[in-house]
Amino acid sequence: MRPKPTPVHARPQASPAPAAWNGGVKFFHWLLALLIFVQFTLGWLAVSWRLSPAKLDLFVWHKSIGVLVLALGLLRLAWRLASPAAPTLPPHMPPWERTAARASHALLYGLMLALPLSGWLIQSTSGMPFRIFRQWPLPAIAAADKAASELAEVVHLSLGIALAALLVVHIGAALRHHFIQHDEVMMRMLPARRRPS
Ligand code: HEM
Ligand code: HEM
Repeated sequence: MRPKPTPVHARPQASPAPAAWNGGVKFFHWLLALLIFVQFTLGWLAVSWRLSPAKLDLFVWHKSIGVLVLALGLLRLAWRLASPAAPTLPPHMPPWERTAARASHALLYGLMLALPLSGWLIQSTSGMPFRIFRQWPLPAIAAADKAASELAEVVHLSLGIALAALLVVHIGAALRHHFIQHDEVMMRMLPARRRPS
């Protein structure tokens, strides 16, 4: 009888150093990570402050940076799709973890775009005009409608909670790779690391 083949994830590592992400993927990853954390802070502050000129300023910044996240997020997605395949995951990862990593990255992309879109819907259905960074008018993507606006607020909040929860898992996984599993996954997303030619 022929011996059973060793599963791929249990084979010894073929190459000593997995390739890092390209510079564009890293640039978009960290720029958007920063902007998204700013967005959570501004969003929660803007909602909880009592009505004042400062509260209205917070909303102008929150909505303007949110539109920027949407534009940069679309550019990021285009860059990622045009880039070569993702670097290989370490061989010690079982198949379910590889699937979870790929699925969670796809979900992060989806939420990163759906959140600002739902914010844009709140703005449009409120019927109030808005200028991005007080300069450029944001066109409405839906007609003014109070019930739709309230629904969009619930969707925006729910998507925000879902993204925050997924980010806790995402950041936890990155730290686990670095500090517990001692593999390359965290290091290869850091800016200084160059791709082996
Ligand atoms: C402190 C915060 C963060 C840390 C420490 C972190 C860490 C990492 C690491 C180490 C990777 C590489 C995984 C691999 O090589 O397989 C990665 C990939 C990724 N991260 Fe993060 N991340 C953070 C924030 C975010 C945020 C805010 C988002 C966006 C919603 C995000 C979305 C992604 C995506 C989509 C990938 C896959 C690579 C790509 O297609 O761009 N991350 N992250
Ligand atoms: C990545 C982008 C975004 C993130 C992470 C985000 C996150 C948040 C968060 C956490 C809140 C507080 C939710 C609550 O406590 O009810 C909020 C509220 C809000 N956001 Fe965003 N947001 C984003 C983009 C946008 C955009 C692009 C707009 C509009 C153009 C927008 C408009 C609003 C409005 C109007 C509220 C107040 C909703 C309410 O009163 O319930 N957001 N956002």
